[in-house]
Amino acid sequence: MTRLSGITPSGEAHLGNYLGAVSRWAAHSRPDDLYFVSNMHAMTIDHDPERLRDLTDHQLAVLVAAGVPGDRLFVQSDLIREHMALAWLLECTCTFGEASRMIQFKEKSRGSASVRLGLLTYPVLMAADILLHGTAQVPVGEDQSQHVELARTLARRFNTDYGEVFVVPEAVLPEAGARVRDLSDPSRKMSKSSSEAHGIVFVLDEPEVIRRKFARAVTDGRDEVRYDAVEQPGVANLLDILAVCRGTTAEEAARGIGGYRDLKEAVGTAVIDTLGPVRERALALLEDRFELTRIRQEGAERARERSERRLTEAIALAGLA
Ligand code: AMP
Ligand code: TRP
Repeated sequence: MTRLSGITPSGEAHLGNYLGAVSRWAAHSRPDDLYFVSNMHAMTIDHDPERLRDLTDHQLAVLVAAGVPGDRLFVQSDLIREHMALAWLLECTCTFGEASRMIQFKEKSRGSASVRLGLLTYPVLMAADILLHGTAQVPVGEDQSQHVELARTLARRFNTDYGEVFVVPEAVLPEAGARVRDLSDPSRKMSKSSSEAHGIVFVLDEPEVIRRKFARAVTDGRDEVRYDAVEQPGVANLLDILAVCRGTTAEEAARGIGGYRDLKEAVGTAVIDTLGPVRERALALLEDRFELTRIRQEGAERARERSERRLTEAIALAGLA
């Protein structure tokens, strides 16, 4: 029962990525699971090659530092031939209507004079990522569930039209409360694409920077520490973060905290304690090119071995061999 998920290096890893995805992958991964840096997905919109290269290393280092076992990790472009070969088979299985109905495509292409074809076909590449590795479960955020649904459709269609080769995957959505919100605007989720840098806590932020960002976090005028996500979304977000870091419920986390100043202090400290060791290990790895390259090579080799048979069979079933 393989579980697979990817993280796109379109920016530096932040607290939402860490608490909502990466730390869970580290805590709950099983020997068959695969996690990868989906760097081929980071070029559907304008990108700088040098920065993409750096961010790919950065993401890989954060994953390793967070405790995702190295033997369950790989970088997508290290298997670019495999992923692209299957993406083509699936592009020829997918209709234009299906691809253009994807909500993310509609949102990201809206109002743009020049839309890259990759933005339209990216969910098909994502389906290839999933199906290539025999994935049964895909842990993703809500915004990706339509893409996993497309992967299911394409797997079934290919299996029916040409022969059984793909596992039909299903999305595994995070439990409620797993969303980290932007510290400067709690109505939005913390995201790599936020414009306000002080609303985002990055995994590699220095402790003092983290403390400052929490000190500036938007709350409300009540100075009443209680959990009410509707009336007090900023405070609820801080309590959610504190709770996840401490492994308690948000209500428990609120206990004994007098005012917003204390709350911000407490959550800042909890996040610094949580991210500190990850930051140190990641920075050490980024200094150690040799080790990072070794992890990449071994990960790629294993992922390739595991996917080889399935890809060969799909190519043959489609009549290409
Ligand atoms: P992204 O940064 O959108 O590429 O997402 C990478 C992974 O991190 C996905 O599994 C997301 O569900 C998760 N993630 C991203 N932002 C947040 C957030 N603010 N809170 C919780 N999880 C998040
Ligand atoms: N598209 C996903 C995101 O933006 C990342 C991703 C790429 C992915 N390929 C995947 C996630 C395959 C799960 C499975 O978050």
